[in-house]
Amino acid sequence: MPGTVIVGAQWGDEGKGKVIDLLAERADAVIRFQGGNNAGHTIVHGGQTWKFHLIPSGILYPGTTCVIGNGVVVDPGVLCGEIEDLRARGVDVGNLKLSANAHLIMPYHLLLDQEGEQKLGKNPIGTTRRGIGPAYADKAARLGIRVQDMLDERILKKKIAAALEPKRQLLRPYAREIDLQAITEQYLTYGHRLEQHIADTAAIAWRALDEGKHVLFEGAQGALLDIDHGTYPFVTSSNPVAGAAAVGAGVGPKDIDEVWGVSKAYTTRVGAGPFPTELHDDAGEEIRQRGHEFGTTTGRARRTGWLDLVALRYAARLNSLTAISLTKLDVLSGFDRIKVCTRYRGALDEDFVTDTFPYHQSVLHHATGEYEELQGWTEDLGECRSESDLPQAARDYLAYVEEAVGVPIVMVGVGPGREQIVWTERASGSAIAGAVAGAAT
Ligand code: GDP
Ligand code: IMO
Ligand code: MG
Repeated sequence: MPGTVIVGAQWGDEGKGKVIDLLAERADAVIRFQGGNNAGHTIVHGGQTWKFHLIPSGILYPGTTCVIGNGVVVDPGVLCGEIEDLRARGVDVGNLKLSANAHLIMPYHLLLDQEGEQKLGKNPIGTTRRGIGPAYADKAARLGIRVQDMLDERILKKKIAAALEPKRQLLRPYAREIDLQAITEQYLTYGHRLEQHIADTAAIAWRALDEGKHVLFEGAQGALLDIDHGTYPFVTSSNPVAGAAAVGAGVGPKDIDEVWGVSKAYTTRVGAGPFPTELHDDAGEEIRQRGHEFGTTTGRARRTGWLDLVALRYAARLNSLTAISLTKLDVLSGFDRIKVCTRYRGALDEDFVTDTFPYHQSVLHHATGEYEELQGWTEDLGECRSESDLPQAARDYLAYVEEAVGVPIVMVGVGPGREQIVWTERASGSAIAGAVAGAAT
């Protein structure tokens, strides 16, 4: 103890990487527990930018063990590439551990992801096409290939052949690309290259927790992309909510003490699906440009909108959030008035108004936001380091959000840099924030 889970409270890209990097300074271990290289986590420090897809965002600290947990789906080619890039930039990856039980993304998963999107025609999900869905599907069908299988040629080949069998028909157009022997050899090579990192990662987590060290569980994506609780079917194929941290890292729920939700001060979404506060006007474009809202993984323009308090309250409940890290507040500087969505109105039934997140897909898909307008501010926030540095209107904005969601905002992002944060007074209620903020002051 203590264990802290950090999750996205929106549709991903909330700035989790930056928050985890910051907290990792005081953590013994950082564990990714779900998703794969559909994630893109950005860290900006010392004039350098780092983008991690699979490697945990604590890797820049040599003393922090970084774990890719059993719940992650791993593309070993991408992982080897990330390791090489880090080595080339002088980062030691000796402390990277890869769960022997994590499932692998195979070349045919990439083809199936692409094929699935094409089949959906005009209505694709807009996946990252990294093979995430098909890899999790094979895991559930018990046809998955695991990290440990890369270490035994006979088992590997047998398992790949078994996994390919039911896909024969679907993969017919790609027959030339699917060569059992070639895939086996390629994955044996990856196994060889990754062997030194492969470990019983749950045991690493238990040891750190038993010794009373800080352990961070790094979420990817966000609550509204959760396969059970998100805007299905426009979701990812895993559970980005905090409950999945226990399963995906191999610890029990009682090992989790704090749950931090990361949310932007507005909303973005990349890919298709309902987005009740989406803006199609100049304000939306302004947020996109000022916030550089283009995907870290695919480069796609992110859809933008005002902060959605209905969705954020839902995320708070789904994750039992104990703290919020509100990022990118600096991006809202310069708006005369800032809107926040407090309720949804149904487009099919004009009289239908709700302040809770609708479970019914038809309601959700046609819901539009109803807003409160708050006073904006003009000051640049990039240099603010304490709450008293923030303009009164920005402080009022934080107080409004905190009151509406019922969760303390402990940290506010005022720029992409590691140092561009404001710890609020409420941070004193968090063990990990206390450790990091205490060290910073
Ligand atoms: P993640 O997937 O949740 O880790 O988020 P991404 O890295 O995909 O996207 C967040 C983007 O916002 C990155 O480019 C970050 O460098 C940037 N960022 C994070 N926090 C802040 C902030 O407080 N202000 C500004 N302006 N940018 C931020
Ligand atoms: P991070 O960790 C934002 C979205 C895709 C698509 C849907 C399904 O950087 O926050 P998938 O490839 O997972 O099957 O795509 O999920 N998506 C993300 N959006 N941030 C992410 O990760 C995402 N990972 C997947 O755009 O809509
Ligand atoms: Mg991202």
